[in-house]
Amino acid sequence: MTSVVIVGTQWGDEGKGKIVDSLSQDADVIVRFQGGHNAGHTLVVDGQTIKLSLLPSGIVRKNKLTIIGNGVVLDPQALISEINYLSKLNIAVTSENLRIAENVTLILPLHKDLDLAREKQAGKSKIGTTGRGIGPAYEDKVARRSIKLIDLEDINKIPEKISRILDHHNILRKAFGLTEICADSIVDYLKDIQSQILPFMDNTWRLLNEMRLKDKKVLFEGAQGLLLDIDFGTYPFVTSSNTLPAQAAIGTGVGPKYLDNIIGITKAYTTRVGSGPFPTELFDEIGEKLGDIGKEFGTVTGRERRCGWFDAVLVRQTIQISGIDMIALTKLDVLDTFDKIMICIGYEIDGQQIDYFPFSENMQSKVKPIYEEHNGWLADTSGVNDINDLPYNALQYIKKIEEFIGIPIKIISTSPKREDIIFLENIF
Ligand code: GDP
Ligand code: IMO
Ligand code: MG
Repeated sequence: MTSVVIVGTQWGDEGKGKIVDSLSQDADVIVRFQGGHNAGHTLVVDGQTIKLSLLPSGIVRKNKLTIIGNGVVLDPQALISEINYLSKLNIAVTSENLRIAENVTLILPLHKDLDLAREKQAGKSKIGTTGRGIGPAYEDKVARRSIKLIDLEDINKIPEKISRILDHHNILRKAFGLTEICADSIVDYLKDIQSQILPFMDNTWRLLNEMRLKDKKVLFEGAQGLLLDIDFGTYPFVTSSNTLPAQAAIGTGVGPKYLDNIIGITKAYTTRVGSGPFPTELFDEIGEKLGDIGKEFGTVTGRERRCGWFDAVLVRQTIQISGIDMIALTKLDVLDTFDKIMICIGYEIDGQQIDYFPFSENMQSKVKPIYEEHNGWLADTSGVNDINDLPYNALQYIKKIEEFIGIPIKIISTSPKREDIIFLENIF
């Protein structure tokens, strides 16, 4: 294998950061291809917890190249603060270990303003976004009025581009009761950050093509999860990018045939932050217990994550849509103290059974999960790194999931720490 794609198979926070960190040991290049600093990827290295939002997780390792691809929306301020945060941890980010695509789309402060204003106005029907301006930035990209990183090279031409954005945003700002913005303030803002960001800029599709020709090992790091995908997620309660593995090609400029091995990261139960349907959500003390043991608080926003049982129907669906080859199962240890564990194996709608999650919001609201009960293992699996040390019932749980979703589980994670992981196959 020369290229591996990592994606989340649920609603994000499956433990992608930990798995990418582990796999990046064998990779030459680690690449982000969509999303932005709405992501929160947690690594635990030598007892130190590191939280990354925008930088590829491989940045923490020495002598690895990381790339932020064109499919990402990049907030320059967020990038600068993350670089400063890492520098305090003695991790240097330089043009030696980070390159950013020339054609990456920039998030401006006005995108965040609009994100927050919309959410406030929506009240109860809000999406529950991370408030980082991700959606508005992607909207401007599709509407062909974005500022791209390369535009900072020719700052004299920027006012014209900014006036195109402001023609649109000032109308909206007025309607939302926000102060109008003048072009000069944005030009000044971009001039301020220009010298800090431009040194990282590169023609990254060409760089990746070179890597391919040299048989370098490339690891693509997805953000969010497939159920937050703009096309196949639980729309409208989704993020504004394609989170599917195919996006690794489009969001970086490599051909789809170059993606060798696609790994879906899957939590041993289910969580979700923000609004939207969640068939197996638990509103009782079991849900609370999952949240407590799993420490289910948002990495980015600190919000409490909603918790529920493993939904095998939704995971099977995301696998079929996206072409995932194998699964990395995380947070198995969180289930250690549950005597009964449920797996959702189907849905009932108005007395009819179905084996997929429908797009119709009306049908979604009627979905009732059908569960299969599984005996817990009631033993400590935290830190186990040999499959033979897993209890029988834990192995049965894994087997049941594999049978249902139709692809193998090849990686098992048993704690937040880098070293607590079981590999059943060489990945690179
Ligand atoms: P990501 O967004 O997919 O990278 O996931 P997050 O980092 O937002 O959330 C996953 C959380 O679970 C983090 O706090 C991780 O440190 C933690 N974690 C990852 N794998 C495991 C595991 O196998 N067991 C336990 N108990 N925690 C884990
Ligand atoms: P990682 O990479 C979990 C959710 C938000 C909200 C919806 C839209 O850490 O798994 P946005 O700000 O993207 O417009 O919000 O998507 N969301 C995430 N949930 N993990 C994430 O990233 C998420 N990124 C966005 O909570 O429901
Ligand atoms: Mg996260």
